[in-house]
Amino acid sequence: MSAFERHSVRHRSDLTGYFHAEPEGDDQLVYEYFEREVPAEEGQITQNITILQPGTVDGEYYMTKGHYHANGRCSEVYLCLAGRGFLLMQTRSGETDVQEYARGVSIYVPPGWAHRSVNTGDEPLVVLAFYPADSGHDYASIAEEGFWARVIRDESGQPVIVPRRDRSD
Ligand code: F6R
Ligand code: ZN
Repeated sequence: MSAFERHSVRHRSDLTGYFHAEPEGDDQLVYEYFEREVPAEEGQITQNITILQPGTVDGEYYMTKGHYHANGRCSEVYLCLAGRGFLLMQTRSGETDVQEYARGVSIYVPPGWAHRSVNTGDEPLVVLAFYPADSGHDYASIAEEGFWARVIRDESGQPVIVPRRDRSD
C-alpha cells in the first residue's frame, strides 16, 4: 500500500453510538482505509482502499461510519476487490437504496447520496473507491440521523436488512 500516503484506522470504540448496542469487550480493529494524497482541487480525483473486517456488535454487522460528501456535487465509484456485503445509501430528502458487494462488482454513488459499507461475510471486505479530491466528508449528519436501515445477522446466520421505523431505534 506504499502508493497510498494516508492511513486511517477505526476500532470498535471509535464507533460508539453507531450500532444499536454499544461495542464492548476487546477494542478490535473494525476497518482501515488508505488514501492517495491528491490536491483537494476541482478536477482532481483521488482513490482509497478500505478493508472492513468481518464481525458484529450484538448481531449488527461491522460497517463504516458513512458520510455525505460535503461538496454535494461530488459522486463516487466503488469497486469490490474481495468479500461480500452491502453499500447502504440515502439522500437528505429521504430516498434510500442498497447495493450488494461481491468481488468484481462496481457501484456508483450519485451526488447527494450518503454511503456506508457493511461486511456481511466471513472474510475482510476490500473495496477500492474513486472520488473527486475536493469531495470533503460530512460525518456529523450521519452521526446525528443514522442510516435508514441496519444490517443484522438473523438466527440462521444470514444477513437481513432491517429498515428503521424512525431514526432513533
Ligand atoms: C470516500 C469514501 C470511502 C470511505 C471509507 C471509510 O469518500 O466514501 O473511501 O472514506 O470507506 O468510510 P468512512 O469515511 O465513512 O469512515
Ligand atoms: Zn465517500
